[in-house]
Amino acid sequence: AATNRLEAENAVVSQGVVESNHAGYSGSGFVNGDNASGSYTEWTVNAATAGSSTLAIRYSNGTSPARTANVAVNGTVVSANRAFNSTGNWDTWATVSITTNLNAGANKVRITATTADGNPNFDYIDATTPGGGGGTVTADQLL
Ligand code: GCU
Repeated sequence: AATNRLEAENAVVSQGVVESNHAGYSGSGFVNGDNASGSYTEWTVNAATAGSSTLAIRYSNGTSPARTANVAVNGTVVSANRAFNSTGNWDTWATVSITTNLNAGANKVRITATTADGNPNFDYIDATTPGGGGGTVTADQLL
């Protein structure tokens, strides 16, 4: 399946900033969400066809405890209190993968912090093509 990279710095951020002061990120930076429950980053995934997609979320969490977040697709939580485990420091990145269904057209993928620690830093989501072939996934910002 084709994979499209959706950089976090092109996503919509509620309570947070785009930064580049830690190494190892893709693109021009990463999103540092505020240390607040309810802060979120929202990506738009445009799918040519409806179907299953794997969302590989690249993140960094330089603190010891896991950070937890709700992953929602089009307003429905598809992974509740998902753990983003420690990566040891803020220059090390890891991936959490979620398989979900996408609609044809624009899909909103929102990751919302569920504790006062806030989200980990986000680098990008790699989204696979729904349907296993034929379709394409493209990124858009601020639709
Ligand atoms: C540090 C780090 C940030 C990170 C923040 C956090 O300030 O430099 O990149 O976002 O911790 O706790 O979330």
